[in-house]
Amino acid sequence: MEFDSKLVKPESVKTACIIAPVFESGKLAASTSLLNQTSNNYISKILKKGDISGKVGQSLLLHQVPGISAERILLVGCGKESELNAKTYRKICVSTLNSLKNANFREAICFIHELMIEDEDMVWKVAQAAQIFSSKDDRRDSQKSIKDETGKLNKITFASTAKEETKIIKQGIARGIAIAQGVSMAKTLGDLPGNVCTPTYLANQAKELAKTSTKLKTTILDEKKMESLRMGALLSVSKGSREPAKLIVMEYNGGKTTQKPIVLVGKGLTFDAGGISIKPAAAMDEMKYDMCGGASVFGVMKAVCELKLPLNVVAVVPASENLPDGAANKPGDIVTSMSGQTIEVLNTDAEGRLILCDALTYSERFNPDVVIDIATLTGACIIALGKHASGLYSNYTALGQALLSAGEESGDRCWEMPLWDEYHEQIKSNFADMGNVGGRDAGSVTAACFLSKYTKKFHWAHLDIAGTAWNSGADKGATGRPVPLLVQYLLNRCND
Ligand code: BES
Ligand code: MN
Ligand code: ZN
Repeated sequence: MEFDSKLVKPESVKTACIIAPVFESGKLAASTSLLNQTSNNYISKILKKGDISGKVGQSLLLHQVPGISAERILLVGCGKESELNAKTYRKICVSTLNSLKNANFREAICFIHELMIEDEDMVWKVAQAAQIFSSKDDRRDSQKSIKDETGKLNKITFASTAKEETKIIKQGIARGIAIAQGVSMAKTLGDLPGNVCTPTYLANQAKELAKTSTKLKTTILDEKKMESLRMGALLSVSKGSREPAKLIVMEYNGGKTTQKPIVLVGKGLTFDAGGISIKPAAAMDEMKYDMCGGASVFGVMKAVCELKLPLNVVAVVPASENLPDGAANKPGDIVTSMSGQTIEVLNTDAEGRLILCDALTYSERFNPDVVIDIATLTGACIIALGKHASGLYSNYTALGQALLSAGEESGDRCWEMPLWDEYHEQIKSNFADMGNVGGRDAGSVTAACFLSKYTKKFHWAHLDIAGTAWNSGADKGATGRPVPLLVQYLLNRCND
């Protein structure tokens, strides 16, 4: 989808379609009101007839409205004006896109961003709309021999009322496109099957990404290097697989050299069969999504490069498979992590924390300002929060707060969970410094407690995205979450 902004008058602009907001009360947004006046109350007459009530989700396509230069007007329901907020605004954008998906025209002029949304500015409104409209281009057919058909619409112009505003709208467009590209990358990588998207494939993708920006440098650590760093936990997982593990490191330098980096660590488990503690067969295919934390970190780096953010950001993605094999971890095995702490592997299916703990210890070398890890870590997190919020854990209140608000702003929410001492009791081991599981109770919490034992030296947050990273059922596919949340967090950090 291509975007632009132009100074236009709704009644006289030449276009295939004007996207015009209407409210439930029959009240018209400013631009729609102008269209109504010029067309001799054509629009208000239609509203009176009741063909569209103005509720969010409704729309009505009008052709050849008298006195109007545009070929069509798409009336878009915006609900009650008094109830407009960030959430309804996003819904309005989604329903607009749905009404336009099979459009028989190529371009349209949009006025949705003229809606007044409390606490949100023009950049935010345009960025949200551009991000949502861009999702039209997200494909799930990369592995299909016959590609899906797509609608014709490929350009949306955001109407502007003043020269100054055009500039601001263009900023919003750039932001929306960058986030959409990040989301799209995370979705594409997530949806790829395990036989294509291997640790080596991810490493190559990271090298490709580095070619697109002079500020980005990729380094790949192979198993030999990991051995020399004594990453015994990570390597214990990958030795049960024929695919060699990779530790992918991407360093983006957009800030001053004195600025401490924000480190993002993403779980890149390209297929999780559970290992010797093998998973049941039902829906096991979905464990190709166990690298979505890593994929989200790739997506964020893509957006960061695109936006040329004045920050230093480091991505660390431990990538491995988890399979049953003669060389695989066995329940009861004890491994030594890079930190020196020993771990009794009581369940080989709790492998995410094993690869993450070494990646977290490795992050110390960047002298980080904060470290945020993102992982499809526990089924228990889905039980706790469903697919609406990612689980958030942090050892630093200010970081937790910043992520919570970035979640609200982006509509990609997380919810904070505890790391209390009481929960740590559950991962005690008789034979090692800790066990890798803590029983059925509070499974997402005990997994986070495990990670917290490797993050004492820095400010840290953990996002358990098991419920938010992909959808199952008829709508099966990666969501690209939490790319919007993390990019919003980074954008906010630029104003520190
Ligand atoms: N990748 C899974 C977590 C997962 C499961 C995410 C289902 C999304 C859907 C993780 O490696 C895992 O298997 N965790 C175990 C931990 C348990 C053995 C303590 C789980 O959640 O069952
Ligand atoms: Mn597992
Ligand atoms: Zn896993």
